Amino acid sequence: MAYETIIVEVEDHVATITLNRPDALNALNAQLLAELSKALIEADANDKVRCIILTGSAKAFAAGADIKEMSEKSFVEMFLGDFFEPAIEAVGRVRKPVIAAVSGYALGGGCELAMMCDFIIATETAKFGQPEINLGVIAGMGGTQRLTRYVGKSKAMDMHLTGRFMDAEEAERSGLVSRVVPAKKLMEEARQAADKIAEKSMVATIAAKQAVNRSYETTLTEGLLFERRLFHSLFATEDQKEGMAAFQEKRTAQFRDR
Ligand code: CAA
Repeated sequence: MAYETIIVEVEDHVATITLNRPDALNALNAQLLAELSKALIEADANDKVRCIILTGSAKAFAAGADIKEMSEKSFVEMFLGDFFEPAIEAVGRVRKPVIAAVSGYALGGGCELAMMCDFIIATETAKFGQPEINLGVIAGMGGTQRLTRYVGKSKAMDMHLTGRFMDAEEAERSGLVSRVVPAKKLMEEARQAADKIAEKSMVATIAAKQAVNRSYETTLTEGLLFERRLFHSLFATEDQKEGMAAFQEKRTAQFRDR
């Protein structure tokens, strides 16, 4: 399908989805959210794809939900339209790893979209923020919940209540992003991470993603049990036999997702 607000490229085992509304700093309007949802579901269903990279432009990953589109809406229109939900649901449904490669502004819904991904690689120019308070509203795509889990209550409150931006250095120090790289290296670094992921057993990859995500949803005891059950179940795969044999034979494992 031809998209107007995003660009989708599949190269080898990696699908790269680039948000592409440069005139609006990639603000998330209804069309972009619908296209993004579709592209994510398509990439997840594509057997060739083993990892997805979500990115924006050098200036903005995304500067938030589209304020111009929202500004005149009533409560009932927002409530019934619920137009952020399909994208939130689509990102949540993707079983393959999704890396957010963030340069420039990741604000409001843009910060929230990055946080929905499995991990964030950022450039030194990245700026994260939840400035919705300046518009007389609050975050609406998960920011009060996810930012708090990433960086803790004190910093999350600071960000949501003052609307201040967090630079890349602070974001890395606080655990919001996994790596900070020079601007020119962003896609190379994201691609290298995606290629590394693509080499692994897809069965173990999905199990790892599910287990880490479970830690947000459950008690430690239940999470540990969930992890152990998945760990045990991986001994039913050929990939476990191959991975452990390859280690002992001092060669690279050839995983076949079996
Ligand atoms: N929605 C719609 N348009 C936006 C936008 C947004 N979130 N962010 C930027 N734009 C548009 C601007 O209106 C401008 O368009 P025009 O040229 O037609 O005026 C264009 O993008 C370039 O933006 P600026 O001229 O403002 O660029 P700048 O470099 O001076 O400032 C910025 C950059 C600090 C990111 C500033 O654009 C800004 O503050 N944007 C809004 C950030 C924001 O409040 N985000 C939260 C949105 S609400 C939300 O996301 C709710 C939720 O949780 C789901």
